[in-house]
Amino acid sequence: MNAEAPDFRWGVAMGAHQSEGNNIASDWWSIEHAPDTFVREPSGDAIDGYHRWAQDMDLAAAAGFTDYRFGIEWSRIEPADGAMSRAEVDHYRRLVQGCRERGMRPFLTLHHFTVPKWFADSGGWLRADAAQRFVRYVEALAPVIEEGVEYVGTINEPNMVAMFATLATGGPDALQAGLPEPDPRVAAAMVTVHRAARDVLKTRWPHLKVGWGISVQDFQPVAGSEDVFASYVHPRDEYFAEVSREDDWVGVQTYTRVRIAQRDGRPVEVLDDTAPTTLSGWEYYPSALGGAVRRIAAVVGEVPIIVTENGIATVDDAQRIAFTREALDSLWSAMKDGVDVRGYLHWSLLDNWEWGDFAPTFGLIAVDRSTFARTPKPSLAWLGQQANQRPRP
Ligand code: BGC
Repeated sequence: MNAEAPDFRWGVAMGAHQSEGNNIASDWWSIEHAPDTFVREPSGDAIDGYHRWAQDMDLAAAAGFTDYRFGIEWSRIEPADGAMSRAEVDHYRRLVQGCRERGMRPFLTLHHFTVPKWFADSGGWLRADAAQRFVRYVEALAPVIEEGVEYVGTINEPNMVAMFATLATGGPDALQAGLPEPDPRVAAAMVTVHRAARDVLKTRWPHLKVGWGISVQDFQPVAGSEDVFASYVHPRDEYFAEVSREDDWVGVQTYTRVRIAQRDGRPVEVLDDTAPTTLSGWEYYPSALGGAVRRIAAVVGEVPIIVTENGIATVDDAQRIAFTREALDSLWSAMKDGVDVRGYLHWSLLDNWEWGDFAPTFGLIAVDRSTFARTPKPSLAWLGQQANQRPRP
């Protein structure tokens, strides 16, 4: 860790469902195996992170990271309504212990897109008692938290969860204006659930630092769209960032930029077929990170920002290094201008399942899909060096 910046978190991020494998009690498992699914390849064994976490932590710690973001899978803790698994709670407790034994700080995510199938089938986030059900799960995690956790993110990308809801119900028009507008009922439910979980966590464990990670792309107004820009951006991420004003930190998760124009008095995304794109189909635009944190800082005021995801899907690891260097430069320039950023967690430590297939490879470490062997890419050591040597502005 850099001696001048003891409180800057340099880490890597992982999600539970994308790495663990065989989360058979989750709603996504059912979606992946439905006959008419959009999923090209189910998560299956994923990258067997459930069994290989110790090796993954060894690689992250050896590279020099101080923080390790991982997710807890609600459907493993509570596979049936009210039936908590002590063995699974103990599994995640051992992960916290494993981080600490290696000198890394665990950074927990309590919900990352997946919920237990029983919860989804009975109304999901729109259940009247959704917050109580989530809180009951959170309370079951006491042994995990008490093993030595300080940072907890309640919900990963609540805005994407609400956008998925629009896609699921919005029919073919839902995608016409680019990123769909989040379903307002699900968006409001996310806020209620987040506040309920945060209040329980902070009441029971006052030392915890609680927040959530929002998907924040670098939305840029093109000339002439200023009047409609806010009406595009506000429901998509700033609505959620406003809630973060009550929190200990806000997570910013950025991958690209999106330019917004005005057509017939309405905001529309500008699509440029000639722009270079990454394996996820997003424009290659590393400095989006600086733009994203600047915009969110203006919304959250004094609340510190942690970059809880940033990265690139590419087969070319030299491109990953170039992308990340430029992203960090843009972050540093925002920090020089006074934006309070307290950490950078790269997505992702390993290539993993990308919500439909394994093709978009975001990892600093490659995974052999048949043997699960891990092979670090040069970017792992490179980013670890940044963690140790890049002086803070
Ligand atoms: C999600 C991750 C995902 C990443 C890259 C984020 O929206 O939190 O689960 O893998 O983007 O697609």
